[in-house]
Amino acid sequence: MPAANGDNEQQKHTEIKMNTTTPISTVTLSRMVEHIVAGRATSDGAGVKLTRVLTHDLQQRLDPFLMLDAFGSENPDDYIAGFPDHPHRGFEAVTYMIAGRMRHRDSAGHEGLLENGGVQWMTAARGVIHSEIPEQEEGVMEGFQLWLNLHSSEKMNAPWYRDFQNADLPQWVTPQGVAVTVIAGESHGIKGAVTREITQPLYLDLHLPRGARFEQVLAPTHNAFLYVYRGEITVSGQSIPAQRMAILTNTAAADGVVLQASTDAKVLLIAGQPLNEPIVQHGPFVMNSAQEIHQALSDFRAGRLGEMPPA
Ligand code: FE2
Repeated sequence: MPAANGDNEQQKHTEIKMNTTTPISTVTLSRMVEHIVAGRATSDGAGVKLTRVLTHDLQQRLDPFLMLDAFGSENPDDYIAGFPDHPHRGFEAVTYMIAGRMRHRDSAGHEGLLENGGVQWMTAARGVIHSEIPEQEEGVMEGFQLWLNLHSSEKMNAPWYRDFQNADLPQWVTPQGVAVTVIAGESHGIKGAVTREITQPLYLDLHLPRGARFEQVLAPTHNAFLYVYRGEITVSGQSIPAQRMAILTNTAAADGVVLQASTDAKVLLIAGQPLNEPIVQHGPFVMNSAQEIHQALSDFRAGRLGEMPPA
């Protein structure tokens, strides 16, 4: 995927200056909460403890999203081993580091240090082998990894990588004091750090003061969900506590979602256009058929998925 596809830096600076005059668009009918999900405690990589919030059984429902992991611990034993070299094919992995430092290296030659509010967007496409290793021996490490599927026509494209420091991410504040970081998509005229034509992902981090309201327009065809990582919010009268994901209804007449903060709250709002294609996952490979998974495995075993550059 060409780098230009994910680069809205010029536009970002212009639009952020226009903040104060940007009208707050109105949602006439909010989506509702269909289901609240607690996630499942698990570990991955070399023993990193995490909560898998978006699990395998929700992949069709939340198409084009395949996985959301939340990690957060102040105990180094929970994260110190990180994620040594491992392969991926067929999707994009978006890591949002709330606190902590993690270094990424991959077989396509990309390297980046992800820290304190930064985002790493890695399009594995036809294949990368990468490592994600903490660069801290103590303190809090907290963040999220979201997997976003690729359309069948994009799965064998060249890999792509970009990382953003927190200061590079488009951010704005509503008149009610809601701080909005636009990682992907568009919110109230502010374009995100990354855009994708087919899946049209929206990825917002919202910091809401108690009592504040936030409205976000959503395309009716998009699947959407929220993850509350601090405090508590309500959507259409339904309360969503911390460490819970709320899957939002796909109501044809609803034109967005309205969040109301019951306490100071921090929330991820994620939405995207479903691909409506078969999803066949085998560990770190997500393709459209069993045959393509066999191909991925044999490419990996034969060293055709990519090789790590020397340290
Ligand atoms: Fe990975």
